[in-house]
Amino acid sequence: MANIKFFGGETIPLEMHKVRIVQKLNLPPVELRLEAIKEAGNNTFLLTNRDIFLDMLTDSGVNAMSDLQLSAMMRADDSYAGSMTFDRLKSKISKVFGAKCFLPAHQGRACENILAQAFVKPGNVVPMNYHFTTTKTHITHMGGRVVELLHDDAIEPTSTNPFKGNFDLDKLRAVIAKEGRENIPFIRLEAGTNLIGGQPFSLENAIAVSKIAKEHDILTVLDASLWQDNLYFVKTREARCMDMTPLEITRELASHMDIIYFSARKLGFARGGGICSNNEEICQRLKEFVTMYEGFLTYGGMSVREMEAMAVGLEETMDEDVISQGPQFIEFMCNELEKRGVPVVTPAGGLGCHVNAMSFVDHIGQREYPAGALAAAIYIASGIRGMERGTMSEQRNEDGSEPLSEMELVRLAMPRRVFTLSQVSYAVDRISWLHEHRRLIGGLRFVEEPKTLRFFFGKLEAIGGWQEKLAEQFRKDFGDSL
Ligand code: F0G
Repeated sequence: MANIKFFGGETIPLEMHKVRIVQKLNLPPVELRLEAIKEAGNNTFLLTNRDIFLDMLTDSGVNAMSDLQLSAMMRADDSYAGSMTFDRLKSKISKVFGAKCFLPAHQGRACENILAQAFVKPGNVVPMNYHFTTTKTHITHMGGRVVELLHDDAIEPTSTNPFKGNFDLDKLRAVIAKEGRENIPFIRLEAGTNLIGGQPFSLENAIAVSKIAKEHDILTVLDASLWQDNLYFVKTREARCMDMTPLEITRELASHMDIIYFSARKLGFARGGGICSNNEEICQRLKEFVTMYEGFLTYGGMSVREMEAMAVGLEETMDEDVISQGPQFIEFMCNELEKRGVPVVTPAGGLGCHVNAMSFVDHIGQREYPAGALAAAIYIASGIRGMERGTMSEQRNEDGSEPLSEMELVRLAMPRRVFTLSQVSYAVDRISWLHEHRRLIGGLRFVEEPKTLRFFFGKLEAIGGWQEKLAEQFRKDFGDSL
């Protein structure tokens, strides 16, 4: 993927692939969008795809596959045990991460379940740069606690810090001293730190974390689900990585980690996931959990087709042209929104464009879920589905009190190789229109609130009937246009 300079001086991301299979899209009129979001309880997870124009909910399991992936799927070797497909995947994992052992699992959170079951005991503390929703749930479910160790400025929405996902090493040392190494089953490093806007850590920082861990005989666990974007950022932003190939960088990082796990729904343009390690003892320990929760050791809940696609997808992830597409589209979208005064997280990260709801709708208090309200409003204004990443995505404390999220973001994910630049321009246009009319947006309150992972299927109502007014304004400004 190239950022091509046009004759006029402008820089535009240029796709280094062509589209050969297409799927028809439907853009429902604003009246239907209003009905659909009400039906969904203002929770974008509960919208149906039929009612969605651009699905920017997630980059998980919705990345476009290549011709090589699709053709590999045709030669998959179906067998419960010992398939040749598994051998091919295992040797690809060994090439990319340098790991001898690979334990397959049906997706990323299944790996988290296995790791939490195997290592976390009640009262334990797991230090990490930042939590991810499913990770935290598995650790707290086992009676453990998560401690987040980003630098203080990492959660400031606008910044010039190229590595907001870095650990604050002083905080890490202090946590180890305070909690004691025996209470720390592992340190988790999340590549492309999801909940703070897909922000990377530097290779140097990851190596420094691993050194500290080794000094204290603590295991390091890399969540490589978003390594693809993080890899692009270290390659383009970190001096020591610029002359290394993506494969060399990946192997270097992997060589410092005890355990690596990933969701192949993100890494490898596929589905599924897995855990790898070079530590024989750890692999033996984790194996039992794979057969108990996932499936036999040569498929782990995945179909052989998924595994073939993953093997090819991992190879493609070592190609800079391939991995730059997502970050460059995201950067384009963030820049265009910023030019129009829309507050977005900077520097532009991986995964998607993150709109800062705390400032977009600064008239809505956090207890009325500004990011959730903005996600619902974006859908009404555009038929685009984004995801709330703020207080709604938090879980209530044991005593029922509600923790307020440090950031209130609406994530507009950029599934890799899926959207065109004109679709991204449409998104920019409708979101800037909404920004002009932001005072029409009001808050939300729960009418159905599940206890665990409430953001997935909780339902909310709009406070004060603001949605109708927003739809009316849309009609006024856009006439017959969708
Ligand atoms: N780790 C990270 C950093 C993730 O972003 C995800 C999933 C997981 C683990 C869990 O993997 O979904 O395969 O079970 N993130 C998705 C998202 C859900 O939309 O950001 P999974």
